[in-house]
Amino acid sequence: MKLLDGKWVSSLILEEITEEVTQLKNKFGKTPHLAAILVGNDGASETYVGSKMRNCEKVGMRSSLVRLESAISEKELLDAVEKLNQDENVDGFIVQLPLPKHISEANIIKAISPSKDVDGFHPDNIGKMVLNMPSFIPATPFGILQMIEKYRIETAGKHCVVVGRSHIVGLPMSILMARNAYPGNCTVTLTHSRTANLKEVCQSADILIVAMGKPDFITADMVKEGAVVIDVGTTRVPDSSKKSGYAIKGDVNFAEVSPKCAYISPVPGGVGLMTVTSLIMNTLLAAKNSIG
Ligand code: GUN
Repeated sequence: MKLLDGKWVSSLILEEITEEVTQLKNKFGKTPHLAAILVGNDGASETYVGSKMRNCEKVGMRSSLVRLESAISEKELLDAVEKLNQDENVDGFIVQLPLPKHISEANIIKAISPSKDVDGFHPDNIGKMVLNMPSFIPATPFGILQMIEKYRIETAGKHCVVVGRSHIVGLPMSILMARNAYPGNCTVTLTHSRTANLKEVCQSADILIVAMGKPDFITADMVKEGAVVIDVGTTRVPDSSKKSGYAIKGDVNFAEVSPKCAYISPVPGGVGLMTVTSLIMNTLLAAKNSIG
C-alpha cells in the first residue's frame, strides 16, 4: 500500500507556481490576485478560506478577504459579487460555500464572471469542462487529477466509481474521469444516496473516489484488493484529545481499508491540501488569461 501524500504533491506544485508568479511579476509587472467572499462565521469555512489566503501569500500572490454578515440579503451578496467582477485588480475570486439558507447558491454562482470563476462552478465553466474545452476545473476534482498524475496511476480502461454527486466534487469528478484524456478514459459509475447495491458497485471499482461526508462509511468489505482509494471526506468530529476539540475524519475507514489498497489518500494530509493548491493554480491561470 502506498500513501497518496497531498502534502508532497501540493508542495511540488506550489514551488512551480512560485516560480511562475515571480516571472509574471518580472516580465509583466503583474501580481496575481485572489479574492474570497466569506458570509458568516462557519468554523470549517473560516479554516478553508484562511488556508486559501495564506497559501496565496506563500507563492507571492495577493489575496483579499471580503467578510459579510450571515444576515446579508441575496441582493447585497450579488452586489458584492458584481463589485469583484468589475475590479480590474482582482484576477479571480470565490464565494465560499455553503451560504446561509435564505440565499440561492445557484443565483450567486451564475452572477460570477466566468473569466474570474476560479472555483470553476459557473455553468459556462462546467459546460466547457464537459466538452473538454479549456476552462477552470473545480478545485477538489482538479486536485485529485493532479495527485493521480504525480503518482502516475494508470486510469485508461479502469472502472472508476465515484460516491456522491455534489456539484463541487462528485459530479465534476465523474465527468473528468470519463474524458478522453489523462487522467481519464475510465468507465465511470456515479453513485449516490439512492444507489441500489452500493456495496457491490464499490467492490468492482479499480479507482474509488468517495465524497459523501459520512465518516468511516467505506469499509474493507466494499473495496477490491489492489484498488486505488481517494477519500474526499473532511467531517469534524468531537475529539477531546485535540487542542481544537475536534478531529477531521474521512469517509473511508482507513485502518481496515488501507491494507487492501494499491494507493490510498489519508485524511488529513490527502485531498484537502490539493484543493487549496488547485485553486491557486486556477488563479495563476486567470492572471495569465488577463494578460492574454
Ligand atoms: N466549500 C467546500 N468546498 C468549496 C470549494 O471548493 N469552493 C467554495 N467556494 N466553497 C467550498
